Amino acid sequence: MRYRYTERMTEVIQIDPARIDRELLRPAAERLRAGGLVAFPTETVYGLGAHALDRAAVRRVFEAKDRPSTDPLIVHVASMIAAEALVMSMPDIARTLAGQFWPGPLTLVLPRSARVPDEVTAGLATVAIRVPAHPAARALLELADVPVAAPSANLFSRPSPTEAAHVLADLDGRIDIVIDGGATTHGIESTVVDLSTATPTVLRPGAVTLEQLQALAPGVTMGPATPVTSGQGMPAPGLLEKHYSPRAPMRLYEGPQAVNAIVADARLARNRGQRVGILAADEDRRKLGAAGGVEGGPPLKIVALGAADDLDSVAAHLYAAMRELDAAGVDLILARAFPARRGLGVAIQDRLRRAAGNRIAT
Ligand code: TXA
Ligand code: MG
Repeated sequence: MRYRYTERMTEVIQIDPARIDRELLRPAAERLRAGGLVAFPTETVYGLGAHALDRAAVRRVFEAKDRPSTDPLIVHVASMIAAEALVMSMPDIARTLAGQFWPGPLTLVLPRSARVPDEVTAGLATVAIRVPAHPAARALLELADVPVAAPSANLFSRPSPTEAAHVLADLDGRIDIVIDGGATTHGIESTVVDLSTATPTVLRPGAVTLEQLQALAPGVTMGPATPVTSGQGMPAPGLLEKHYSPRAPMRLYEGPQAVNAIVADARLARNRGQRVGILAADEDRRKLGAAGGVEGGPPLKIVALGAADDLDSVAAHLYAAMRELDAAGVDLILARAFPARRGLGVAIQDRLRRAAGNRIAT
């Protein structure tokens, strides 16, 4: 991807994650320090970064994303020492979890110190913090030497970006720089754990699994699975019911007959003249051939996310696949569910249900 840039366009900086050239990142770090907006790859999804202690810069993040200011941001830092400066105190459980999972896809919610502006936390008494593992993110944070508030770098309620092209599709011209480090590894967001209350609670399932957390801290529990529907007083506003959504309406098929039901419904929809997109597993392809029906009908687009039991692959390809179907102009998306009980399956199921706005067929 090659970008000419004028003053109003977003500059693209290409980075090889395997060989970080700090000189290439220095202008991006300076732009952050000066209050600019810089999108960067993390190991989960791309983030849209701003100087977390610069209120005006943080407000620009909300404007660029069209994000309601009631939805707090995660602050990204380079080290535990930098994290300590943002909280009242660092409890033992935070040190234990951070010791194992930082740098990495775990976000800790802790009582905030006075340094953290209200704009970052939406006025909450707590702040969400993580140390990302992606080498470009780490180098950028070290060079900037300031805490960086960064939500996912998508327009509000769109699927999170897992490639720089997704960031540009949503935010080109609205932000100063995007650092292009290729596709992200995990493909879904960090796990958010609230450590500010008596019981450590997962507010958002993510790339670190509940089982991994419980192996170190057995008291960690899963937060309420019921989605919150209003913007007022929500524990984790990322838990809005319809979120991470493709433009086309999506329906999620659960249970052993899911793929057969998708075949039947795809045929019906195409007979009505609708262009249908399908989110599937590799092994569904043969059955789904039957969804094609007669030649010459409206287009049918099938995207396979990986083998159904390869949840790493499914997570890594999920958001990109939603964007691919949207780009293909489908009218309707039919998605199959994946094994959802444990491990990464919990986070995948969470994202699929939200993308489907809870339209579920069983
Ligand atoms: O993997 C990730 O976490 C990515 C990358 C860029 O780091 N970031 C991300 O940010 O997903 P965002 O803004 O899309 O989601 C942040 C989540 C939201 O659900 C938000 O409500 C929650 O974290 N959150 C932030 N601060 C919080 C706080 N003080 N208390 C409870 N939840 C909080
Ligand atoms: Mg987000």
